[in-house]
Amino acid sequence: MSKLILVVLFVVYTDACYWNAPCSYQLFGSKTPYDTVRGDIRDYPTPKNCEAVSIWTLNRHGNRNPGKSVVRGMKDVTLLKDEIIRSWEVGTSKLCAQDIQGFRNFKWNDTIEVATTYLTGTGYDELFGIGQRLREKYPHLLEGQPEKFYFRPTNEQRTITSCVAFIHGLTEGTNLNVTMEQARQRDDVFRPYENCDRYQIEVKNGYALNYQLDTFLASPKFMAVQEAVQNRLGLTTQLNASMVLSLYEMCRFYRSWAPDHKSPWCAAFAEEELFYMEFYEDVLHYYRNGYGTWVTENLGRLAMKDLYESFMAFLEGGGRKISGHFTHDTMMEMVYCALGLYKEDAPLQAMNMDPHRAWRTSYIGAFSSNIIAVLNRCDEIASRTASQYYRVQLFINEKETPLCPLEGCTMQEFQGKFKPYSNANLDFCSMSYVPDEQDPSSSNARAISAFWRFS
Ligand SMILES: *[C@@H]1O[C@H](CO)[C@@H](O)[C@H](O)[C@H]1NC(C)=O
Ligand SMILES: *[C@@H]1O[C@H](CO)[C@@H](O)[C@H](O)[C@H]1NC(C)=O
Ligand SMILES: *[C@@H]1O[C@H](CO)[C@@H](O)[C@H](O)[C@H]1NC(C)=O
Repeated sequence: MSKLILVVLFVVYTDACYWNAPCSYQLFGSKTPYDTVRGDIRDYPTPKNCEAVSIWTLNRHGNRNPGKSVVRGMKDVTLLKDEIIRSWEVGTSKLCAQDIQGFRNFKWNDTIEVATTYLTGTGYDELFGIGQRLREKYPHLLEGQPEKFYFRPTNEQRTITSCVAFIHGLTEGTNLNVTMEQARQRDDVFRPYENCDRYQIEVKNGYALNYQLDTFLASPKFMAVQEAVQNRLGLTTQLNASMVLSLYEMCRFYRSWAPDHKSPWCAAFAEEELFYMEFYEDVLHYYRNGYGTWVTENLGRLAMKDLYESFMAFLEGGGRKISGHFTHDTMMEMVYCALGLYKEDAPLQAMNMDPHRAWRTSYIGAFSSNIIAVLNRCDEIASRTASQYYRVQLFINEKETPLCPLEGCTMQEFQGKFKPYSNANLDFCSMSYVPDEQDPSSSNARAISAFWRFS
């Protein structure tokens, strides 16, 4: 009989150091780099005896600069840099020397002020990479007439340039000559919420969203984060909630542009604090783009109608080889709602963080997040008569989804799930619209999400 001796090694750190932490926190809500959460479309086999014949994609734009008001808040807190360094010199800071060195070396990036919300080089690379991987996986699709290809961005620099990057990656080294559609002023399929009164009034400026955000910022846990940051940096300047949020923006934006995905500003937060800050955005997105309101799932249905019609057109002899649509996280999340994905019975609540929640913006709304639908044509080799059938594969961020098995949905399954979207409309956007129990546009979405959950 042998005795089992457990030797427990305690490693004692004098102080937390961010710069050399063996694995620093990676998940930053909608500002998470795509590479942190993506799979790889090349790693998934095409179903047996099948060949891809048509691809439909929906893409969030890539890494971008922050918007105007975020930049303003960020610039304000960079004024704390000198105080952060001085606090360390007088011994009130808890940061380690190398993290302070990081602050000393830090320089404000002027580009982000002159090009607010513009796609960055990092963002271009993300979309280029997606196009490139699709080209490697499906090279046979990249030939033919220009009208077999369709690329449509919303009317913003960041989506138009994302579309350019995607096409660049997709067509590089081929003889393909494709163009993208001129961005339209108003896009009621891939950005329908912009002109939807009910969304603008009831959701974006509605009570539930503000209530949840206020609740989060007043929560004891957030107060504790604020106090911990204050103490860690050893500041005499009193931080408030918006300054803590701006410090978080400094951390997540600057790290997203750094080759090592680090920024000294992240040293202001301990890992569990970053974990809690991530939850803030989940709450925001849940009540603005997600299941916090019935409006969003209805806004997501039009894009799924487009997917359905795209593949049906192909079956009827027309259709395209590749169609790509370039949009925003708001749209991506509304589509997930239309599909009934990432939903739990209990609504997400600011006061009640579930560490295992299904609605996790980092995974579903990261930069460049996407849905790729692949229509495969297959040969029935077992039967004597040469017959063909189809299989639809669906990927999110180049990973498998619960929507269709890896070997693909049958056409019957695909139609069963997607045909209901074909009656999608925006009638409910009018404030004078009265939801009718009999009206498909108000009841269908619920029926569909029930279908997904139980099928
Ligand atoms: C400045 O920000 C841009 C993103 O807007 C980034 O691509 C660039 O690398 C940054 N420059 C420096 C010196 O960090
Ligand atoms: C590609 O197509 C556009 C528009 O049809 C045309 O103007 C351009 O000359 C073409 N380029 C090449 C390299 O064929
Ligand atoms: C936090 O403090 C800054 C700087 O003093 C101020 O501009 C901002 O309005 C304050 N925010 C809140 C929510 O009190």
